[in-house]
Amino acid sequence: MRILAIETSCDETALSVVDASGGLENSRFEVLENLIISQIDVHRPWGGVVPNLAKREHQKNLPKLFTKLKERINLTSIDLVAVTSGPGLAPALWQGIEFAKKIGEEYNKPVVGANHLEGHLYSVLLPRKQDTASTKIQTPNPKESISGMEFGAWNLEFPAVALLVSGGHTILALFKSLTEYEKLGETRDDAVGEVFDKVARMLELPYPGGPEIERVAKDGNPKAIDFPRPMIHEPSYDFSFSGLKTAVLYHLRDHSPAVTTPLKIRGAGGSYDQRADIAASFQAAAVDVLTQKTLRAANEFAARSVFIGGGVAMNKALRHELAKKCQEEGLVFAAPDNAYNTDNAVMIAAAAYINHLTGKTYSMEAQPNLNL
Ligand code: KG4
Ligand code: ZN
Repeated sequence: MRILAIETSCDETALSVVDASGGLENSRFEVLENLIISQIDVHRPWGGVVPNLAKREHQKNLPKLFTKLKERINLTSIDLVAVTSGPGLAPALWQGIEFAKKIGEEYNKPVVGANHLEGHLYSVLLPRKQDTASTKIQTPNPKESISGMEFGAWNLEFPAVALLVSGGHTILALFKSLTEYEKLGETRDDAVGEVFDKVARMLELPYPGGPEIERVAKDGNPKAIDFPRPMIHEPSYDFSFSGLKTAVLYHLRDHSPAVTTPLKIRGAGGSYDQRADIAASFQAAAVDVLTQKTLRAANEFAARSVFIGGGVAMNKALRHELAKKCQEEGLVFAAPDNAYNTDNAVMIAAAAYINHLTGKTYSMEAQPNLNL
C-alpha cells in the first residue's frame, strides 16, 4: 500500500510517500520520499514556536513540497492519504488537514487522520541506516525469543515498555503487542524536551535547546552539580520536570559570579566552563530519571523490550544510558534512526498503516490535546 502522509502539528512542514507492506508481525516500510521544511529559523528569534507563524509557514510550504512531490512520484499510484490530526497546535494541524482533504478530492483517494504520538513510537519500525554503531544502541537479544518480530534490524519482543520524549510530551507506555498499549505515566508539568529548551535559554543557548545542551554538555562534568531527580523514587510512573528546571534557575542565581539577571549569565569567557558543567549535570539528572523509571516499569511488567521515540530520543546520553541498562537486564533496546526522531511525515505514514491493519481510525478534525 502506497501512503502519502502529511505532518504539520508543530514547526516542521513534512510530506512523505511510503510503501508499506506486511502484517502486524512483519510490517515493512520503504521510504520513497521524506520531504521536510523546518521552521526553526522563523521561530528562533522568539525563543519558541509561535502558533500563528507556524500556520503561515505551513500554508506557504505545503504547496511547495507538494509540487516537488508531484515531480517525483506519480500520485495516481497513491492508495491512502494520511495526516496528523493531533496532538499539536490547532492552527497548524488544520493546515495539514485541509491540505490532505484537497489532495484526497483531487486524486479521489481515501484520507485518514493519524496520531502524532503513535507516529513517534512507531518510528521504531522504520528502516535504519547502518551507521547506528556510533550511538551504541545495537543490543543483541540475549533472551530466548517468544514473540519476536523482525522490524528492520530490531528483534522487538512484547511486552515492551515505550518511552516517548518530545517537546510536548513525556510518556511511559506498556505495549502488550504492537497495537495494544496503555499509558503507565506521563509528565505532570513540563515535557522533558521543553525543559531542555528552557534550560538552554537560561544558558543563552539558541532554540531548539536540546541539541545545544547536548553539545555544550560534552565539555562538562555531569557530576559537578547535584541537581534533583524529581519523582525518581515515587511508585507512580509519572514524571515532573519543572522542579529540575527551577533548580537550574536557582543555581544560576545563587552560584554564578557572572550572573546579570536571575536568568542570564554573561556569554563571554569565563562562563563557558560553568555552562558546560550546568548543561552536563542537568542532562545527567534528566537522563537518570527517564532511565530509572523506564527500567523499573520494564521490570514490573516483565517487559522483554524497551523502545523510545520523539525529539529527545536523539540525545546520545539518554540512548547510551538506556542501551547500557537494557543490556545489563537482558532487554532488547530499540531506538529509531535519528532521521525519524524529530517531527517527520514518514512516521505518520507508519502510524496510519498500523492503524489501517487493525481498522483503528482518527477523525479528520484537529485534536490539539489528543493523547496516547
Ligand atoms: O519530537 P519533536 O521534534 O517535536 C515534538 O513533537 O515536540 O521534539 C522536539 C524536542 C525539542 O524540545 C528539542 O529540544 C528536543 O526535542 N531535542 C533534544 C535533542 N534533539 C532534539 N533534546 C535533547 N537532546 C537532543 N539531542
Ligand atoms: Zn513530535
